[in-house]
Amino acid sequence: MDIATALAKARAFLHQKGIAAAPLEAEVLLAHVTGTDRVGLYRDANRPLTWEEEEKFQELLQRRAAGEPVAYLTGQREFMGLSFAVTRDVLIPRPETELLVETALELLTGGVVPVTPGGRREDRPPLMADVGTGSGAIAVSLAYYLGKGTIYATDISPAALALAAENARRHRVAGRIIFLAGDLLSPLQKILPPGSLCLVAANLPYIPSAAIGQLMPDVARYEPRLALDGGRDGLELYRRLVPQARELLVPGGYLLMEIDPSQVPLMARLLPEGVWRYRVRRDLAGRERLVVAQVVAQPVASPPV
Ligand SMILES: C[S@@+](CC[C@H](N)C(=O)[O-])C[C@H]1O[C@@H](n2cnc3c(N)ncnc32)[C@H](O)[C@@H]1O
Repeated sequence: MDIATALAKARAFLHQKGIAAAPLEAEVLLAHVTGTDRVGLYRDANRPLTWEEEEKFQELLQRRAAGEPVAYLTGQREFMGLSFAVTRDVLIPRPETELLVETALELLTGGVVPVTPGGRREDRPPLMADVGTGSGAIAVSLAYYLGKGTIYATDISPAALALAAENARRHRVAGRIIFLAGDLLSPLQKILPPGSLCLVAANLPYIPSAAIGQLMPDVARYEPRLALDGGRDGLELYRRLVPQARELLVPGGYLLMEIDPSQVPLMARLLPEGVWRYRVRRDLAGRERLVVAQVVAQPVASPPV
């Protein structure tokens, strides 16, 4: 069978199995199997598939039809224009999380983040943290595009940390990320004095435990529960993170937290006035997605964030 025929059959098969993006996914899977890109498939449309390629393609199509996400089948996902290795040990990085990285980059390059205790904006390499780093999507892309500073990346899952370290090496930023296993920011509390960090980024699990079963089957059945389950109201990890971040951030430093839009009112209670001030940014779909919280440096006189 040649590439064009295999592609046409695969599109029809996935469509019949109810896969919404059947044409695109058929192309991504066949490009992966044949070691080319989607343009290559059209360039080599008349090339016959080898027996091994045909076999592998059929296996991937069956797994996709059973609900396994494409990123786990190919072992790759694009995030912030970089290719990340992904396995079933980690959440597949989501496009909406790019808002968090873009916001961090704006804050860090815009000179609004104080990098030293005492709030002075000296030209010193910033110290940052990415809590619950998973595949390393946030830490690696921040390190890659910022080009300076050190990021502490934590995760409770050693398997996730190993993959994040692989992604850091892939994008040549391993020298600027320190990977630490443990609960939230507790590994940093042991090694850094209070007020050391200028920015903490967190895309922690925020789905209420009871809602996990109602997620799309691709997510609920295949992505790690450890990366999804945010406890009773979805905010149990953020509830514990906020005071830890308060201690480790320099006055005027930032805590960025990705949330579900329904959680905005609850977040207000986690960020007491006089200690924090915050705003909420919307993602490309117009949904309130990112809490940008700043440790109040001078309780009364500072300008709004
Ligand atoms: C929603 S995933 C996000 C992964 C990655 N930051 C991203 O945006 O793609 C949350 C991550 O937090 C980790 N995690 C869960 N509980 C944790 C805890 N108590 N301390 C540190 N990491 C935790 C999970 O293992 C998972 O990798």
